[in-house]
Amino acid sequence: MATHFYTASSLDGFIATEEHSLDWLLKQDIDQDGPMAYPAFEQTIGALAMGASTFEWVMRHEDGRWGYTQPTWVFTHRSLAVPEGADVRLTSGDVADVHAEMVTAAGGKDLWVVGGGGLAGQFADAGLLDEVWVQYAPVTLGSGAPLLPRQLDLELLDVARNRNFLCGRYRVLRG
Ligand SMILES: NC(=O)c1ccc[n+]([C@@H]2O[C@H](COP(=O)([O-])OP(=O)(O)OC[C@H]3O[C@@H](n4cnc5c(N)ncnc54)[C@H](OP(=O)(O)O)[C@@H]3O)[C@@H](O)[C@H]2O)c1
Repeated sequence: MATHFYTASSLDGFIATEEHSLDWLLKQDIDQDGPMAYPAFEQTIGALAMGASTFEWVMRHEDGRWGYTQPTWVFTHRSLAVPEGADVRLTSGDVADVHAEMVTAAGGKDLWVVGGGGLAGQFADAGLLDEVWVQYAPVTLGSGAPLLPRQLDLELLDVARNRNFLCGRYRVLRG
C-alpha cells in the first residue's frame, strides 16, 4: 500500500492558473493507454483525498456529476454541497487520522492525493506521502497553484514520454 500524489503540472511547477483554470492542460494530447496515463493508475487506487478547490473544480467541470467510485475525503472548513450518491466525506481533521481511515477503506489498494499541492505537502509533512507522479505539460504559466510547496528530496523511479507530456515518477525520501 502506498500513497501517491499523481498530477499534471506546467513546466514551471503550477497545477492550475491563479483562476483555477486547467484549459492549458485539457488542450494537450495524451495517450490514455500510454505510459503513466490515468486509466491504469486509477485502477490501483482504493481511496482519494483532495482539497476544497480541487473538489470545486471537479464539480464545475463535470457539471455537478461525480465520476469517482472510490471513497473520497475532501478537506474543507466549509459545508460544501456533495452530489447525491457520491461517497464523499468532508473533513477538516488531521491528515494522519484521515490517512488511517483511508487505508482501512482502500482494502489493500493504494491511496491518491489528488491535490492541491498544499494538501500533498501536508501528507508529506506527516511522513505519509510515498510517491509523486507528475506529467509535465509543455507550457509555462508564470503563476498559479503550486505543484508541491515543500522542501523535499525525491528519488527518480521512472521517466517516460506520453505524447505532449514528460512523465516522472518519484519516491519521497524521508530524512
Ligand atoms: N493539474 C492537475 O492535474 C491538477 C490536479 C489536482 C488539482 N488541480 C487544480 O489545482 C488547484 C489546487 O487548488 P489549491 O492550491 O487551492 O488546493 P486544494 O487543496 O484543492 O484546496 C485548498 C483548500 O482546501 C482546504 N484545505 C486544505 N487543507 C485543509 C485541511 N488540512 N483542513 C481543512 N481544509 C483544508 C481549504 O479550503 P476551505 O477554504 O474550504 O477550508 C483550502 O483553501 C485547483 O484548481 C485544482 O482544480 C490540478
